[in-house]
Amino acid sequence: MIPAQVIEAKRDGRAISSSRLRDFFSAYLAGEVEEYQMSAFLMAVLFRGMDARELDDLVEIMLGSGASLDLRDLGAARIDKHSTGGVGDKVSIALAPLAAELGVYVPMMSGRGLGHTGGTLDKLEAIPGFRTDLDLGAFRAVLEAVGCAMIGQTAEIAPLDRRLYDLRSVTGTVPAIPLIAASIMSKKLAEGLTGLLLDVKVGSGAFMQSEERALELARVMVGLGAARGVETEALVTAMDRPLGRAVGNTLETAEAFRCLAGGGPDDLRALVVLQAAAMARLGDSGRTEPDAIAAAEAALDDGSALRRMERLVEAQGGDPALVSNPDGFERAPVVRAISADRDGRLARVEPRALGEAVVAMRGGRARLGDTIDPRVGFLLCVEPGDALSHGELLAEVHAADEAAADAGEVALRNAVRWDDEGGPLRPLVSHRVTRSGVETLPAG
Ligand code: URA
Repeated sequence: MIPAQVIEAKRDGRAISSSRLRDFFSAYLAGEVEEYQMSAFLMAVLFRGMDARELDDLVEIMLGSGASLDLRDLGAARIDKHSTGGVGDKVSIALAPLAAELGVYVPMMSGRGLGHTGGTLDKLEAIPGFRTDLDLGAFRAVLEAVGCAMIGQTAEIAPLDRRLYDLRSVTGTVPAIPLIAASIMSKKLAEGLTGLLLDVKVGSGAFMQSEERALELARVMVGLGAARGVETEALVTAMDRPLGRAVGNTLETAEAFRCLAGGGPDDLRALVVLQAAAMARLGDSGRTEPDAIAAAEAALDDGSALRRMERLVEAQGGDPALVSNPDGFERAPVVRAISADRDGRLARVEPRALGEAVVAMRGGRARLGDTIDPRVGFLLCVEPGDALSHGELLAEVHAADEAAADAGEVALRNAVRWDDEGGPLRPLVSHRVTRSGVETLPAG
């Protein structure tokens, strides 16, 4: 196998045989295909796509590059959730303990920030001492003791995805349906799950910017899961504005903790509740949606999900006191209040611009291996639809120094859309995709 020939075949839109694909990726893992060659191949996939057989091969190659967990002896349903990535998406942090509270095991393996989107792992690591690098034995012990465990992809799980994920993040090769589908599904299929919920984000802050592409990605992933015996459901959710009010690792983790305490922004709570209910239904098909939603609401309001999060944080080495006291997180050195420079109704804040600004402020990675500052980001003080007068507080920029705060302020002001700019917002959750097809959900 000559790497350049595989790259050229994909560049020219020719299908690549199973054995050549296998050889190409094995050679990459063995250090015989260079990073620049893999980058070129990934870019060719981004433009040319993959057919169903190539995608199936890629999932198997990624899955087979590492180990799989066998959690069958746990007895109860094992359900995970994965988001395709967005801005301000801290759902997983509140969701894992909440879904566990509803009676399913949640063995969650998450990723780092990818491109302009944040990653659950980086958010969890904002909790001082919290270990996301547990080995599979320790992961399992936490899962058994607490009902949920949250780690990064270990070296054992889909190592090929791990390498490609990092490379894609810095080479502009994320938004390809086959690459996203194989990346997510190979990790998830290695977790020994009985069911999987996918949150497919759509809008300018997502990798899928049109509804058509989001539905296509959802269908592809649901099909890959179903073909391997994992009950898989996808919800298509809005990413034409940030989710919640916090963008940036520490700020988002704090917001997720407030949600677990029964507070937090309404859109975040609504999505957390709906997704926890969906996970409970995937774990127990006899459970009705209204019943599961009521149980999720109750577990947020009575403090039981919060207490489970405290146990999880403690079990993974973090400071559990922060869960009920998120004001205790270390703040960025500069917190600048930004006020409206006109009267008007806030239409939305462009999510991608904020996500990119967080990366520029070193809250995300611009290059492989960059270390990040978890404290930086934005805290929006208003919501779409709010009427504002000139001088009213719009947001806070949290930055490492005044120069970074200046850049953050410019990015925020450019990201604000007033009045009817940009048309109506997407519904928070627009579609449910299952093996049986696509259901359009009622608004509200
Ligand atoms: N999340 C992943 O795990 N992989 C992707 O490619 C995109 C989002």
